[in-house]
Amino acid sequence: MITTLTAMRADIGSIGGHLKPSARVVAAVEDFLSEHKGEPVIDYALVTTGDDITLLCSHTGGCNHADVHELMWQAFANGAETAIDEGLYGAGQDLFKEGISGVAKGLGPAVAEMEITERANEAFLLFSLDKCLPGALNLPFYLAFADPMHCPGLILSPRMKKGFRFEIMDVLYKAFDRRITLEAPEDMYNIAALLRDEERFAIRTVYSRTTDEQALALSTTRLHHIAGFILGKDDPVAIVRVQDAFPATGEILAPFAMGPYVSGSLRGSHYGPLMPMRLNSAVSFFDGPPAVSCAAFCVSRGRLTPALDVFDHPVWDQVRERLSEKAMEIRRQGFFGNAMKPFEALSYGGIVQILQELDERFVLEKPDNS
Ligand code: 13P
Ligand code: MG
Ligand code: MG
Repeated sequence: MITTLTAMRADIGSIGGHLKPSARVVAAVEDFLSEHKGEPVIDYALVTTGDDITLLCSHTGGCNHADVHELMWQAFANGAETAIDEGLYGAGQDLFKEGISGVAKGLGPAVAEMEITERANEAFLLFSLDKCLPGALNLPFYLAFADPMHCPGLILSPRMKKGFRFEIMDVLYKAFDRRITLEAPEDMYNIAALLRDEERFAIRTVYSRTTDEQALALSTTRLHHIAGFILGKDDPVAIVRVQDAFPATGEILAPFAMGPYVSGSLRGSHYGPLMPMRLNSAVSFFDGPPAVSCAAFCVSRGRLTPALDVFDHPVWDQVRERLSEKAMEIRRQGFFGNAMKPFEALSYGGIVQILQELDERFVLEKPDNS
């Protein structure tokens, strides 16, 4: 059977700042979906990560299906009404067009979707991240799909030996979708040269070179470009198929133990370690640390199993402890140097204004030796 998996993430309001949506808001989104879902939607799931709600719909409508996107958007809009009623912070934050007709891509919520021919055992992962950019996933997914130190399947499985094809987006390019396709292992260094820059480049899709099947879809729209003003709310979602010709679940998860410093964090203006969190966790310290959650599923004829929370395990408690220390360490230097994003990348306008004002107060002096 050909099934489409559509993941949509939106921040429609949260308690006490940018921390976590309320139970009433989550219920309002879920109730709307269960009441209104019908053809072509077969099943759905909902998880939260920090202040974001991620919906997953399985359906038969294909990618960019207007009815499916509208249904999901309306579910969020229904939740946003409750958020306004409760006085939640940032109520309706990511729904900044008055309703939609047609696809939701580029209108606020982050969307990742793929149409798949279901395998007999169709296992996949839904990643949802808060307080970071799509490029935060560059390193873990590069290591999972291209590095045998993290993904031994690349040398152990004949089904993976040919490697994977990466489609990488230039997310700073505004006029069009500017993308490049590169193949691992031949293009390893080229892929690394692009992916090192999380502000500018992000993986959009990954395909198996053995079966030509799509392994991964990631949301790559940057909201502050869509909005036409500075927002910096680009928290991404991703769908990753696992096992068989794709990396095993453990191979996809292993690189997340590293917790690299990523761009985002408080006011979208700092660096913090990407911390693997349990599903439905709040963020806290310095509005973070940047959080990644992951729900594992199987799907059969469009029907989803319950979500399994893959970061709910003692190993990840240890990882979280280590990364908490990493988060504290970078915070010790406050606004200075590499703790805060460089001037050109800052999401919030205040410092730009300060520097403009100060610019007029600089004086020019001839050097003595001239
Ligand atoms: P979100 O992008 O998750 O809404 O967070 C914004 C922010 O400024 C947190 O400090
Ligand atoms: Mg928010
Ligand atoms: Mg968020």
